[in-house]
Amino acid sequence: MPKHIAIIPDGNGRWAKLQKQDRTFGHMKGTANVKDIVMFAKELKIPVLTIYAFSDENWERPSQEVTILMELLETYLLQERQNLIQNKIQLRAMGDIGRLPKSVREELIQTMEMTAHLDEMILNFAISYGGRSEILSAIQKISKGIQKGDFRDEDITEALFSKFLYTHDLPDPDLLIRTSGELRISNFMLWQMAYTEIYVTDVLWPDFNREEFMKALHVFENRKRRFGKTQEQMDGS
Ligand code: FPP
Repeated sequence: MPKHIAIIPDGNGRWAKLQKQDRTFGHMKGTANVKDIVMFAKELKIPVLTIYAFSDENWERPSQEVTILMELLETYLLQERQNLIQNKIQLRAMGDIGRLPKSVREELIQTMEMTAHLDEMILNFAISYGGRSEILSAIQKISKGIQKGDFRDEDITEALFSKFLYTHDLPDPDLLIRTSGELRISNFMLWQMAYTEIYVTDVLWPDFNREEFMKALHVFENRKRRFGKTQEQMDGS
């Protein structure tokens, strides 16, 4: 079983178009599906689930769509808070949450505070997140640390660098699931994905149900992860 699953829930807009509905309807269905997949991941005892809810680039979408996505996020937090607590799920957010509208940011911070002590699963929302900006911000912090004399150039190892990322205390994702068929990483967890297994399905996010999730897990189970080594080395270890 993967310790950390990351999801790019893509295809809400295309799903809505197929139903001859507007994009808002797709995002509503997509949000409902986030609720269900989070609960399913909890049932399966997945320790960490990261969901790419809103990217740095998503700010460029038409302002009406950005507003709707923010409203859906706020509604999700208000509606799901008690459910997260009951299920002992800790909510985290990674990204530039200072850019979020005040009410969304406040609900988010409140939900994180209310769930901070819970330890049966970590639900990590990437919100206003970009992999490149995460890496740049780590470099800026390390550079300041060097100026202050906290460490020297030669102390900069992969382990030290990882400590300056949002995921400093989380394992790297074992599995990335991307729905709706696009073969891209889209600026998601660029550092952390170095050895992540990638599963892409044509299924659109609102249709990605528990059965589809199980399919992804079965594919993962059958992957041979070698982390750059030979199969013989892995068999021997
Ligand atoms: C991709 O569909 C989805 C998004 C850009 C946002 C993801 C948001 C949700 C699943 C709902 C809100 C999330 C939470 C956590 C409450 P798209 O619009 O890119 O679809 P398209 O590529 O078919 O147009």
